[in-house]
Amino acid sequence: MESRDGSEKIYPSGYEPKETNNIDANVRNQLLDQILKSSPTEFINTDLFTVMAKRRSTRKFTDKIVETVKIDKIIAAADTAPTAGNFQGFEIFYVKSSEKKQQLVEACNNQPYVNAPVVLVYCKNPSRVKLDFSEEILKKFAIQDATLAASYSQLAAQALGLSSIWIGMFDEQKVMKVINTDLIPSSVLCIGYPKQDKFPKPRRNLQELVHVVW
Ligand SMILES: Cc1cc2nc3c(=O)[nH]c(=O)nc-3n(C[C@H](O)[C@H](O)[C@H](O)COP(=O)(O)O)c2cc1C
Repeated sequence: MESRDGSEKIYPSGYEPKETNNIDANVRNQLLDQILKSSPTEFINTDLFTVMAKRRSTRKFTDKIVETVKIDKIIAAADTAPTAGNFQGFEIFYVKSSEKKQQLVEACNNQPYVNAPVVLVYCKNPSRVKLDFSEEILKKFAIQDATLAASYSQLAAQALGLSSIWIGMFDEQKVMKVINTDLIPSSVLCIGYPKQDKFPKPRRNLQELVHVVW
């Protein structure tokens, strides 16, 4: 396949797309770019490593409304995550009504903090992944796509002075019913302004985490 500059496109083995989604590869989606480049309304330290070092799960949020510009950035951040073959095998459901949020609390094992100022459900959509692999592999890609996207959103939320809780404990069928989809959820991300700042939780020593293979 020829790209616009005439050079041949190279795909990893097995990744040659069966169909392209007609997007000009040289122009990044304009709305996405605009949102990503827009300045935050307040001064926030967005240095990636500072954000990572400070991120801490929060289960208690204030009632302060999260500004739309921040929600846009959190969603745009998800859209920058890598996805298998760039097919974006995931969808985001932005739950707005308090009735639906309350139903999600029940669907998420009665975790009350799911009723948060911003609630995003990340679902797997393997049907978007147009690669010539088995269904099993495509499902595996979709769960990775959805998980990475949520993870990018979580870091973006932290960078914007917000905090979040990742919800993995839920009844899939119940969540699907609440958000009215046949796509299987991968995670629920609950976001808001934290009631208090907490220190990050300790982790095991890096030496224990890393297994060097020669
Ligand atoms: C896959 C996954 C599932 C999780 N599920 C839940 C959950 O259902 N409820 C909850 O309160 N926290 C949940 N968490 C949050 C973890 O408890 C939290 O990330 C962990 O304790 C580390 O704390 P930290 O995020 O502050 O570093 C989940 C996190 C991950 C990555």
